[in-house]
Amino acid sequence: MPPVVRGIGMAQADGPTPPNTKPPCREPSDRPIVVAALTAGILVLTTILAPRALATPPRGGAGAALTVPPPMGWNDWAHYQCRVDARVVLANARALVKTGLAARGYKLVVVDDCWMRKHRNREGDLRANRRKFPAGMRALARSVRRLGLKFGIYEDAGYATCGGGAGSGTPPGGGRAHFLADARLFASWGVDYLKLDGCHVFVPPGVSPAAAYRTAYRAASRALAHVARPIIFEESAPAYFQGSPEWYDVLNWVRRYGELWRTGSDIATYDPRDPRRSRWASVMWNYDYNLELGRFQAPGRWDDPDMIIGGDPGLTRAETRSQLALWSMMSAPLILGSDVARLSAASIRILGNRAVLAVDQDPLGRMATLLERSPSEDLLIKPLVNGRYAIALLNRGSRPLRVRVHPERLGFGGAGCRLDAVDLWTGVRHRAARALVARVGVHDTVIWSVRPDRRCGPPARVGVITRIRPHLARNQRTAEMYTRCLTAPGRVANCTGGASQSWRVLADGALRSGGKCLAEIGAAARLQACTASLFERWRYTILGRLVNRATRRCLTGPVNGPLAVERCGHNPASQIWSVPLPLGAP
Ligand code: GLA
Repeated sequence: MPPVVRGIGMAQADGPTPPNTKPPCREPSDRPIVVAALTAGILVLTTILAPRALATPPRGGAGAALTVPPPMGWNDWAHYQCRVDARVVLANARALVKTGLAARGYKLVVVDDCWMRKHRNREGDLRANRRKFPAGMRALARSVRRLGLKFGIYEDAGYATCGGGAGSGTPPGGGRAHFLADARLFASWGVDYLKLDGCHVFVPPGVSPAAAYRTAYRAASRALAHVARPIIFEESAPAYFQGSPEWYDVLNWVRRYGELWRTGSDIATYDPRDPRRSRWASVMWNYDYNLELGRFQAPGRWDDPDMIIGGDPGLTRAETRSQLALWSMMSAPLILGSDVARLSAASIRILGNRAVLAVDQDPLGRMATLLERSPSEDLLIKPLVNGRYAIALLNRGSRPLRVRVHPERLGFGGAGCRLDAVDLWTGVRHRAARALVARVGVHDTVIWSVRPDRRCGPPARVGVITRIRPHLARNQRTAEMYTRCLTAPGRVANCTGGASQSWRVLADGALRSGGKCLAEIGAAARLQACTASLFERWRYTILGRLVNRATRRCLTGPVNGPLAVERCGHNPASQIWSVPLPLGAP
């Protein structure tokens, strides 16, 4: 049986397989959902490297280092899908300039799928769909660049794009891929950014899908390094493995090859037949899965939870604020997926808020840490340069909240600690505040930039420890949360926000809650009085394991039942944890 790889938008699982809910793109042809693994071909056997922290070598045209802040710009897919053409692209490019959003940083204009034809020309080159792009892609890139913007393009690591256009990858059955020829062509067109999707990757018999993907993305990365133009490389590979053990392996290697990668399923697209349909659940879903993955991120290497649909139909103004604030807390790429010319003045003000964008673009490039999670609120912290912190509080419930955040909730223990804070939406300053106070509307997010005074001391590494529930089908995502929380004295439970779900990670690897330490006791793990023994120390790995220092076995959190400590497996969901990140230097 050939291995089956599903398109983005599907949870793979230790549970029911949901239907592919991605809207069908019928142009230029229907997409098959199975990656064919056919007859003989070139067998390139690639082993997944043993997981370890990877030094990320610089990459880029002609060997130049390419370290970029999270990219900002626009991409047609979420609003137009295959209805894209040159007119749409140029209208949005001009609107970015006219609204002032380009001047705020949204400078990249990316043409997504369906720009190319199904077949290459006789020389093997890609051809634009002439009906949609009559002047061709080189001319379009020139027009975009003349507006002072950058130009990005979509291709696919498989033999066909998700929309059925010609892909860059190995043909079905084996043969030569087109990565180098396509990279040269893109460079000659003046392309600055390549989004390389992962539909229809040929998987030779006997090769695992993850290995076939790695071979393809590595080849594409090398091809880009061979052309004279620096081209930012976005990889969609991880999204094709979301919910499976290989997800973490793939997230571990994409960092070697590109500047950013799509971590999971697509953000909900605009449907002209049902424009008012709420897309909030999709924003929450993408935020939830991406927030789990901060350990993979570093400056110039970004987790991408997909496009900003705020301002487009389907999100309220509060939800638009939330999406921008949360994406900025995660240092996510900010790629608008809307019809820019139709953004309201209020949406433009939100999406162009300089102070929030500065949180996203902060040079430390850190992912937020989840301090508290309950069905109604998430509290997040993100260190910024110059000793400041961004703090955000999301109201994910259905009632307005009054919040009061004391410094202890942020991890500041010093007596008499006071905070200088600015509310980044209103610009209101609070000097020497004992607590951050706000009203937060339904689905809104308040975001502050905070400077703790000297009495606060450095913040402790505190927060919740979560594991995902990969069995959740997409159609359940409104009802259930993506994660569950490690709960004292020793189980995994729904996240409620209580003190039993607040953990402190110490430098020696101890995990403390309520002053006690989580220890391996036989094959179980429980909270006990701290004794400084090795059984209380845990090594946190890049894949997300908590490995006991004494026994080298993994903390295991079954969905129901007490914690166990078991032999480390191949990334079962029960052994993969998201742990508060250190707030100091990485
Ligand atoms: C995948 C990607 C989307 C978009 C479409 C195009 O689903 O995740 O962002 O590029 O393909 O077909």
